[in-house]
Amino acid sequence: VKSHNILVLPGDGIGPEVMAEAVKVLETFETSERKFQLRQELIGGCSIDATGKSVTEEVKQAALNSDAVLFAAVGGPKWDNARRGLDGPEGGLLQLRKAMDIYANLRPCSATSPSASIAKEFSPFREKIIDGVDFVVVRENCGGAYFGRKVEDPTYENMGLIDILSAMDEWGYSEEEIKRVARLSAEIALRHDPPWPVISLDKANVLASSRLWRRVVEKTIAEEYPQVKLVHQLADSASLIMATNPRSLNGVILADNTFGDMLSDQAGSIVGTLGVLPSASLNGLPGDKNLKTRPYGLYEPTHGSAPTIAGKNIANPVAMILCVAQMFRYSLDMEREAQQVEDAVRKVLDSGLRTPDLRGKSSTTEVGDAIVAAL
Ligand code: NAD
Ligand code: IPM
Ligand code: MN
Repeated sequence: VKSHNILVLPGDGIGPEVMAEAVKVLETFETSERKFQLRQELIGGCSIDATGKSVTEEVKQAALNSDAVLFAAVGGPKWDNARRGLDGPEGGLLQLRKAMDIYANLRPCSATSPSASIAKEFSPFREKIIDGVDFVVVRENCGGAYFGRKVEDPTYENMGLIDILSAMDEWGYSEEEIKRVARLSAEIALRHDPPWPVISLDKANVLASSRLWRRVVEKTIAEEYPQVKLVHQLADSASLIMATNPRSLNGVILADNTFGDMLSDQAGSIVGTLGVLPSASLNGLPGDKNLKTRPYGLYEPTHGSAPTIAGKNIANPVAMILCVAQMFRYSLDMEREAQQVEDAVRKVLDSGLRTPDLRGKSSTTEVGDAIVAAL
């Protein structure tokens, strides 16, 4: 009997509601041959309330000892302005990314996934613009402005944002940090036949860290992956291209932490809603021979805790459920089952059973139940 240890982190806001549906979907794959050992823990605002910390050492250890982590969302108005940085709810997620060294965040976006009917109906773009769009943003996840030195005026803690006189985020990269995410991007490109191009985003015209980024990506791909076509694209114009001719970005969009965060949210406009976009944060691809630790994977929707719709049973569980598919694919060697989840999601969305963000009348639990039934 195969047993997979999964750490489940529902977090705040709509997190627990969408996570409950993902767990239901996961459990339909239990057989006499395969069991899931689920351990549920706190992260984010709820963890601050209970323990004083946005993530405890114990939860970090649990993540390092599990086969995969399912994470829903953290944050909310209750904790805004109270604590920020690594101590705030969002900091719990950042600390976990760092502890697991999951340096690559894969955020796929395609006009047919999860469903062509959703993209066609809900994208603000005309069909001919989004037709055939298929890319994955590979976002550097453990460096850059997110993890550099931070200088904040001390009055911030006591008085709130108004009293800040000056603040600074250091935005730095080392050669090694860039190299490893460039390699992983090229490996993903090679999983396609013919190989996808790698489109690397930067602001080399302005930022020193971007100039290093461009040089290292260029050298790594030329030396180690000569069969992969590399294109450099300034990040600001990439954002325009994503709106005017997104097909021309088909491939692997390699981006630093900040640019990748922004571009992957923008990708939500291609499918029409953030509520259906999953992501996978990894410290390597399956079979990576350079791994010095066990493979780590944390699976999180691109969306956040959506506080204004929390507690109403109306959040779209699809992004979280598709994270289960990503987990099957990248952490548990269950590609066939990953596709089964994706097919079931497509079938349910195409049938018109949808949550209100997709102008549907169904609840979070009804959509989850329908996906379970389709499986
Ligand atoms: P958000 O993603 O929570 O919400 C953006 C918009 O999308 C809102 O209109 C929301 O109602 C809607 N939305 C998001 N997910 C949805 C879903 N599953 N179903 C239906 N509608 C959905 O982003 P925000 O409003 O900028 O941030 C809210 C809080 O979430 C903040 O505290 C932020 O820091 C946090 N956040 C957390 C994560 C994470 O945990 N990974 C990601 C982004 C934002
Ligand atoms: C995301 C979120 C996070 C980020 C926040 C909540 C730390 O926006 O996962 O995209 O900026 O990485
Ligand atoms: Mn984001």
